Amino acid sequence: MMQDLDLSTIKLLLIDDEAHCTKLMEAFLRQAGFSHLTMTNDSRQALELYKKVKPDLVALDMRMPHMDGFEVMRQLREVIPAEDYVPILIVTGELDAPTKHKALADGANDFINKPVDAMEVVLRIKNQLETRRLHQQVRMHNQHLEAQVRLRTKVVEQTQLDLLNRLVLASEYRHDEKGAHAWRVGRVAMLLAELKGLPPEQVDMIKKTAPLHDVGKIGLLDSIILKEGVYTPAEWEVMKTHTKIGSKLLADSRSPLLMMAREIALTHHERWDGTGYHRLKDVQTPLAGRIVSLADAFDVMTHACSYKAPLTLAQARAEIERNAGTQFDPELSALFLTLIDREGENLLADSTAVQLFA
Ligand SMILES: [Fe+2]
Repeated sequence: MMQDLDLSTIKLLLIDDEAHCTKLMEAFLRQAGFSHLTMTNDSRQALELYKKVKPDLVALDMRMPHMDGFEVMRQLREVIPAEDYVPILIVTGELDAPTKHKALADGANDFINKPVDAMEVVLRIKNQLETRRLHQQVRMHNQHLEAQVRLRTKVVEQTQLDLLNRLVLASEYRHDEKGAHAWRVGRVAMLLAELKGLPPEQVDMIKKTAPLHDVGKIGLLDSIILKEGVYTPAEWEVMKTHTKIGSKLLADSRSPLLMMAREIALTHHERWDGTGYHRLKDVQTPLAGRIVSLADAFDVMTHACSYKAPLTLAQARAEIERNAGTQFDPELSALFLTLIDREGENLLADSTAVQLFA
């Protein structure tokens, strides 16, 4: 194993106040094939030299004027990254047990006795360098694995999103080929969630799941979905089942995304005063459902359909204000008015899946 070490690339830093000691060590090490040697006889320079050279190993004397080996070691351990293994070898004549214990506790990796013996110096240094090499290999392997996991996770997330988006398109296809309403609701719900101050992960989940709010319409007949004009009371009752159908389609998943999508599909027609589809009152409707309820209603108000012309932005604003506390969550309504004032006509813009999920 040890012969694999390429000594020509190894950098060593030697710190000893006595010049004859560093010279002797240098001679031994050069003879053994090391060529990048940096030495100092002034321990106060150790830290700067370390930062400049970034050595693979430090050989350090203990007893030195100005700053002893313990102090130098403390300084070095502070700048050596925790994940990097940079061995520090203590070169000393005082190998009594307390000194040894303290040195080990402070981060020393091995000891070399003074007066130094050429063979021992080289072997101990090579041993430590071999440990460093193995450490680096493990670290690189781990980094490679982490990168692989990140990549795979991204692919899985992208695939999940891709499938969700296609489910949106499939459910809207009969009456809105491009799913324009769904994507607009996704975008507006995301902006409202952001304004509400939800954490970025929650905002992202709402952005991805809000477009699925009407997924249950996939289970309704053409005679309902494609009807031009106002629904009869009986047709209206059928129409209302799309929330339960959507919930059924998205049920029993452990994916947080699908769980939120289900919640939204089931509750996006609830009202704050409890007179909505399922008669859930105020906070029983989850926040995501209350957010999408506003985004959905706003989009329906501001876009034409077969039986009504669109409201202007100002009319929609007034409508939301009027229904705050009855149809809509009053706090979210107030935020929505702020959003309308901030975004203006932008809030009506089409948002394709690609733009929304880029
Ligand atoms: Fe709906």
